[in-house]
Amino acid sequence: MRQALLFAAVFAALAAWALRLPLVARLLRLPQVLVSAAAKDDGALRIGILGASFIARVAVVHAADKRRDVRVVAVAARDSSRAADYATRHGIASFHGGRDAYEELLRREDVDAVYIGLPTQLHRRWTLAALAAGKHVLVEKPVAANLQEASELESAARRAGLIVFEAAHYRYHPALRRVRSLLLETGSNSSSQLGRLRSLEATFTMLDPKAWLGSRLGFPAEPGRDSESRQHERLKNLDRWWYCADSLLWASGSREARVLSVTEGRFSVSAQLELQILGSDGSSQALNATIYMARDELLRPFEWSLAAQGSNPEGNTSLLLSNLGFPFIWHAIDVAAGL
Ligand SMILES: *[C@@H]1O[C@H](CO)[C@@H](O)[C@H](O)[C@H]1NC(C)=O
Ligand SMILES: *[C@@H]1O[C@H](CO)[C@@H](O)[C@H](O)[C@H]1NC(C)=O
Ligand SMILES: *[C@@H]1O[C@H](CO)[C@@H](O)[C@H](O)[C@H]1NC(C)=O
Repeated sequence: MRQALLFAAVFAALAAWALRLPLVARLLRLPQVLVSAAAKDDGALRIGILGASFIARVAVVHAADKRRDVRVVAVAARDSSRAADYATRHGIASFHGGRDAYEELLRREDVDAVYIGLPTQLHRRWTLAALAAGKHVLVEKPVAANLQEASELESAARRAGLIVFEAAHYRYHPALRRVRSLLLETGSNSSSQLGRLRSLEATFTMLDPKAWLGSRLGFPAEPGRDSESRQHERLKNLDRWWYCADSLLWASGSREARVLSVTEGRFSVSAQLELQILGSDGSSQALNATIYMARDELLRPFEWSLAAQGSNPEGNTSLLLSNLGFPFIWHAIDVAAGL
């Protein structure tokens, strides 16, 4: 019954959203092919995809379909028929299926770079394999499951002279660039638009019905701390709070972050951090920031934002960026002063 109500609520919310016609138009444009395979540049970057996933379609295939300088040449999946279907459906010339599918794709001479959209626990292994095969790598975030793995990938990329880039697509969106420049001109400069920054907050709540049921009904049974399902949930949590951490550090130009406290739930993480940001006069300033991520909050089904508070001689200021993660669908930036 509860579940039925939940789905009805989600459906009603989606319907309400869909009535915003420009949004629908934008969503319909996502899969449009604007540059056919025949019209691509001769020197186009040739990409191979590891994993015939939904995310690869949205992140790479649809994007490449709009550019002359990028071509998706092959896709690999363990399941052969899935790989074949995916290639046919998206006009990808070659596919590799079966147990050695990923290795086969990495051996291709006509692939310059690979996109890895596999589950987080496989990122390290396949990024290293791709580097060893001489390919640049675009890998889904988080690039690794922990700091040790991330450092290992960084040195492997450096040794190979190749690029490993974590798919932080939003850093290239004008909305995020605008927010970053507003934050960077602050620091200790009280005459900038936001004045002197006092605090930052990154929030990501997206209701995951299974997580909600899990935290209400204890389903699936509370696993032990190091059990496989616990690790699985932690990686899922990491997928989400990664956005909070990355956007805070990147948008504020922080060099360092010190964790003051963390509270980790099964489906949530909240943390207090102290960031070192560079003021516009070159001085370093400490700034407190918070991260809040939850997958099980019914009353906050969707909030994906970066907020800043500051003060200038006229009073307090604030900035709120809404829909940080998918700004290309819709977003809003609200700046207020004299509060
Ligand atoms: C402070 O910010 C204002 C407004 O953005 C700018 O004109 C000025 O150059 C900045 N001062 C310094 C020292 O960066
Ligand atoms: C950040 O918060 C900590 C703990 O609440 C506090 O001790 C510290 O002074 C704060 N730092 C700044 C720059 O506000
Ligand atoms: C600005 O914000 C600070 C901290 O929240 C508060 O103590 C102060 O009263 C505010 N200033 C004005 C003018 O409202």
